[in-house]
Amino acid sequence: MANLRTCVFPCAGFGTRFFPATKVVPKEMLPLVDKPILQYGIEEARDSGFDKLIIVTSKGKDSILDHFDRTSELERSLRERQKLDLLAEVETVSRMVDLIAVRQKDALGLGHAVLVSKDAVGNEPFAVILPDDVILADEPCLLQMRRVFEETGRPVVALMEVQPEETSRYGIVAGSPDGGRRFRITDMVEKPKSNPPSRYAIIGRYILPPEIFPQLQKTPRGAGGEIQLTDAMRALVREGDFYGYVFEGKRYDAGEKLGYLKATVDYALRHPALADEFREYLKSLFDDGKASQSSRPTARRASARR
Ligand code: G1P
Repeated sequence: MANLRTCVFPCAGFGTRFFPATKVVPKEMLPLVDKPILQYGIEEARDSGFDKLIIVTSKGKDSILDHFDRTSELERSLRERQKLDLLAEVETVSRMVDLIAVRQKDALGLGHAVLVSKDAVGNEPFAVILPDDVILADEPCLLQMRRVFEETGRPVVALMEVQPEETSRYGIVAGSPDGGRRFRITDMVEKPKSNPPSRYAIIGRYILPPEIFPQLQKTPRGAGGEIQLTDAMRALVREGDFYGYVFEGKRYDAGEKLGYLKATVDYALRHPALADEFREYLKSLFDDGKASQSSRPTARRASARR
């Protein structure tokens, strides 16, 4: 069985669904409670046995790499002031992983972002995590999928059942259940405008063989005028077994405002230092009708702030 240790994180997108917040700050660096969104993905990869992590960035996104780098001055200052708890937290992040950075110079889509990691990945199977897709799970989603790869030696994508009206936002697969949470995929289509082949959507976790790269090189622009990973995977589906895994856990689309808010609430309610007080605060909003009314901005209050 080939060694599975590389995970690619496409982080080159513009983050337009979160404008204006992401005009300058990369969306991957927005905090989810007290860690940037990307850190959850990095921790998931690390906890799933991946130690070669490749970040695909673009111009203006270097703060992503800085976050996981050493910050000697900050560390010295914290040490001198005996702020040892904070020092430990800062050091944990910089010691967490070593990253390889590659740049996507043209915004040509997810398939292209994966393609630019080709040389860094080499001739080995690898995983891809889309950091926007944050997954809260008892067992890391990628570890659940890794097991399928280790059993079959074949590509695996994460699947989630979505509402019929949501299918046009995702890559959607065709196929049939293959025992337990495993799914045998026979076809897939990126963001179908009509007649989706099922309600199973691809969520941003993939385990792929290096054969995906020549397929990506041949893939023309597809949905949205971009080179789509789904289109390249479709070619692999035709060549051999390809699996989906309906993962256990809750997924948030933290790359858009509502999904981000939901993730923030759920993660805060699990945060050891914040959960109790935050739960009390939320309860007070809903228990006390007056409180919830007064927390709604009125036209007068809104205009007073201008
Ligand atoms: C990407 C993929 C899509 C997948 C989705 C999951 O789309 O192209 O197949 O279903 O991620 O989040 P995006 O959301 O980047 O448009």
